[in-house]
Amino acid sequence: MAAVIKTKAEIASMRKGGRLLAEILSDIVAEVKPGITTEDLDNRARALCKKHSVKPAFYGYFDYPAYICVGIDDVAIHGMPSKSDVLVEGQIISIDMGIIFEDLYLDHATTVAVGSIDSKAERFLSSSKLALQAGIKNAKVGGYVGDISNAIETVASMSGYSVITEMTGHGVGRSLHEDPSIPCFGKKGTGEMLKEGMTLAIEAMINEGDSELIHLDDGWTTLTADGKRSALYEHTVLISKKGPEILTIR
Ligand code: MF3
Ligand code: CO
Repeated sequence: MAAVIKTKAEIASMRKGGRLLAEILSDIVAEVKPGITTEDLDNRARALCKKHSVKPAFYGYFDYPAYICVGIDDVAIHGMPSKSDVLVEGQIISIDMGIIFEDLYLDHATTVAVGSIDSKAERFLSSSKLALQAGIKNAKVGGYVGDISNAIETVASMSGYSVITEMTGHGVGRSLHEDPSIPCFGKKGTGEMLKEGMTLAIEAMINEGDSELIHLDDGWTTLTADGKRSALYEHTVLISKKGPEILTIR
């Protein structure tokens, strides 16, 4: 199936929703400190959805039981909040959240430090963030999905890291996951052509070590097989003639 091209009205709604999600995620990030639990962060996400009258996109999705996905250190993608996961200084934590605003889905994630972190972790986070930025920069009308994927992979591997290969970014808007899939690796000029009006959840899923993941039997949580750290940065981006427009930004 081809990607969904959004109408002007849908784009206007997604702009508003994206701004709201950026605000919500940054309010959750502001809570991150040693001693709080990932359940506290989820409670904050729930309160913010209520405050802004938006629906969570993940809660209930294939019975997912929470408002956000969280990943401390070696927890990669789809980690679940828990009252027994207490944040400790020096850790990194990814927070991933989706909302439904005016019937349209937005998806956004970031990875931040818990207190102060060592320079190795700092470098890992800044390189992973750069990988997402490079991917977004290459999301152009007339370009290809592979241009985005290749840019993410290139930055990650040049920095000495690997990309997660078993999960992908995706189209987003009328539903949480639309075509096309946007892997974190690939060749330039391959895959679906990018057209004006597509909205894409571009995700940089980067591992400090090997790309291999382990799946826990809770059905959701994935961990790096080598126990090294994993980072996630994600924006919902509009493909437009004026260039890529990040929607999940304030
Ligand atoms: N950003 C993630 C994704 O697109 C989060 C999905 S969590 C789920 O896969 F619970 F909704 F599955
Ligand atoms: Co996503």
